Amino acid sequence: MNDSELKIIPGKASQLLAARIAAQLGCEVALCEFKRFPDGELYTRIIDDIEGKHAVIVQSLIADSDLIALLQLIDAAADEASRLSAVIPYLGYARQDKKFKHGEAVSIRAIAKCICASTALDSIFVVNVHDPHELRYFEVKPEELDASAIIGDYITEMGIDPVVIGPDGGAEDLARSVAVPHGFDYDVLQKKRLAGDLVEIKPKELNVSGRNIVIVDDIISTGGTIAEASRILREQGAREVYVFCVHGLFVQNAIMRLHHAGIKEVVSTDTVESAFSRVSVAELIANSLSSLK
Ligand code: R5P
Repeated sequence: MNDSELKIIPGKASQLLAARIAAQLGCEVALCEFKRFPDGELYTRIIDDIEGKHAVIVQSLIADSDLIALLQLIDAAADEASRLSAVIPYLGYARQDKKFKHGEAVSIRAIAKCICASTALDSIFVVNVHDPHELRYFEVKPEELDASAIIGDYITEMGIDPVVIGPDGGAEDLARSVAVPHGFDYDVLQKKRLAGDLVEIKPKELNVSGRNIVIVDDIISTGGTIAEASRILREQGAREVYVFCVHGLFVQNAIMRLHHAGIKEVVSTDTVESAFSRVSVAELIANSLSSLK
């Protein structure tokens, strides 16, 4: 593929990351316009000419309106571009990937159908989805990119010889893939029922007393999961507790919650842009785009 034919189309939710990806690839970022009509409806326009280009839309799905804007960008680009890819660094709604109760929507399935409705879309990239099984709902199967090596590299530079801990079983794969290539110990917190309503939560295998901890999770939303994990690990004698997530949403009072939980440092990637986005997935995404045939 000739990189000069690529044109990055930055969605409103991923402007900085889109620019970083373009810088990695040495290609242009298209000028776009986003506004709302007086009734609240979104207006989206790709101002630059993308005729005959391989258009790569970069848009995380954080707010509901991000999905509308993504669909609008796909529709606008499909009329002009010779080829169309979508990079969805944070795929929102992925935690509702089944019916937990009768009558519920499988939200990620509904969203996958909308995104794949455009026949012009020929590739999709996502970063660390909540559960890779949900990607089966997409007609154009997304390629899942894994930020765990970037996280592991950052932790190595911290020089803290940590135990990497997943706050629950769902985070075990992430903890493993962050820890193992870098030679860190890893474990997950496990709930054990001792008797009746007496429950003990502690690391499955390791003694964390006196050890530095890095808790890793795919998403921080309200910060409740991480704050509770930090409290448990401190009770077990952990030294400093650091936190790393791929997608940092930090909703409600998450930042205060994490602060009060005595966490030394919180780091996330830039799939969701915030003050905690200290590492970028731009190179990871750029490498995958440049290897497209
Ligand atoms: C849940 O399954 C996810 O992996 C995260 O642990 C969860 O979304 C974190 O949410 P919160 O920050 O609100 O506890």
